[in-house]
Order: sequence, then structure tokens, then C-alpha cells
Amino acid sequence: MNDWIDYYDSTHTIYASKLHRDVHFEIVAADIIRYIPSPDAVVLDYACGEALSAPKVAAACAKLILAEPAPGVRGRLTDRFAPITTIEVRALDDLRSLEDRSVDLAVMNSVAQYMTPQQLDSAFSVISRLLKPDGRLVLGDVLHAHAGTVSDVTSLLRLAVQHGFLKDALVGLVRTALSDYRQLRSKVGLQRYTEADVLAKLAAAGLTGARENINIGHNQSRMTFVARLAV
Ligand SMILES: C[S@@+](CC[C@H](N)C(=O)[O-])C[C@H]1O[C@@H](n2cnc3c(N)ncnc32)[C@H](O)[C@@H]1O
Repeated sequence: MNDWIDYYDSTHTIYASKLHRDVHFEIVAADIIRYIPSPDAVVLDYACGEALSAPKVAAACAKLILAEPAPGVRGRLTDRFAPITTIEVRALDDLRSLEDRSVDLAVMNSVAQYMTPQQLDSAFSVISRLLKPDGRLVLGDVLHAHAGTVSDVTSLLRLAVQHGFLKDALVGLVRTALSDYRQLRSKVGLQRYTEADVLAKLAAAGLTGARENINIGHNQSRMTFVARLAV
């Protein structure tokens, strides 16, 4: 049982509206595509969520593995992307049976905050085994140990103004304040890290990383790291 996985498997209200959700997945997909090294790359999206713009990512690589722990979300991914033969949907546990050194790019975006530190270590070690010698892990949207929620709110409102869903965003913020998300956030919490914490965790899994100047997605108070196998 994992509270955040159950939350993401429920009819949650993390996105203020359909437009917000669509804009979110468009931006994440465009950012992932920037990291794909070549059209014949194998890409793993670790805890991909609804991945609504996955067809665009799949069109930029040879194979896209969408790995998702929430069973309901995974069922929708399987149905939605069945016609696209270069997309494979997997549970996180299935990744243990993938061939060593078979992935060019692994992406884990907006996931670390929902994992226990031990779960994050295990995920890094699975990914470390899967990466090709010149493969890369892109770890995005990590909550900084010293960042508060104000920056999350202002980033959301800025995005909402740019894309025309300000009213929905304001209603969504009130709804979130009264929702399961808020309750889970105080009960289970969200994991936050300093830059040094993340680099140390990556190193413990045999990965050498560095922080990027720009975060994946719209919230620039959060951190993205790129890591490779340490030599
Ligand atoms: C905010 S969504 C991010 C989805 C997608 N990567 C994106 O960028 O939009 C968080 C994802 O983390 C997954 N998740 C939550 N708790 C987790 C855990 N303990 N271990 C692995 N994945 C988890 C959820 O199922 C969900 O897919």
C-alpha cells in the first residue's frame, strides 16, 4: 500500500482543468524530447502518470517504455496507446526483468517527492542497471529542501495566465486546499532534497550527476538533474 500511488490512481484534482492537464503533458513531453539522443533511442519514462503527450515522445525515438505503478492509470495507458506499437506499458516491478544496459534515456519527472528515500534509492539502482554505458537519467521536478509552497502557487498562476485557465487555477487552488492532496501532504508528506542530497543518492547508485539550469515543466523553483553511469 502506498498512499501517493493510491492518490494518483483515484479521481484526483491535481490538474485544475482539462486544459491545465493537457498543457502540463505537452510541456513535459517537449522537455523530454530535448533529451532524446537519437531517433533510434530506447526511452524509459519512470512513473509516467497519464502521459497524454506520449505519442509525440514515441515519434522521436525507437521505443518508449511507459512505467507506472498505479494500476488504474496503467490500464488507461494500455488502452490509450494500444495502436502505437513503439509504446510499451509496464508496471515498475516489470523493470527488474528488462535487459541490463538496454535504455538510452530514463526520465523520472515529478516522482521523487512521492517516494520514500529508500524507494528512490531502489529506483536509482534499477535505472543504473538499465542504462546503456552512454545512457542518461533525467530526474526532474525535484522539490528543493528550502523551497516552500508559495513558489508552486506562483508558477501555477503564471502558467494559467499564459494558457488562459486562470479562473480554473484559482478554483483548483481552493479545491486542493480542501482535498485529499492537502491531507496526504500533511499526513505522509512530500520528500525534499538539497542539490547535494540528490547528487549523493545518485552516486550511491553508481551514477554521476549534475543539476541543470532549467527544470522540466513549468516550475523553475524545482530542480532537474542529468546523470550518467560513473566511470
Ligand atoms: C505528479 S505525477 C508525475 C507523472 C509524470 N511523470 C509527469 O511528469 O507528469 C506522480 C507520479 O508518481 C507516481 N508515484 C507516486 N508515488 C510513488 C512511489 N512511491 N513510487 C513510484 N511512483 C510513485 C504516481 O503514480 C504518478 O504517476
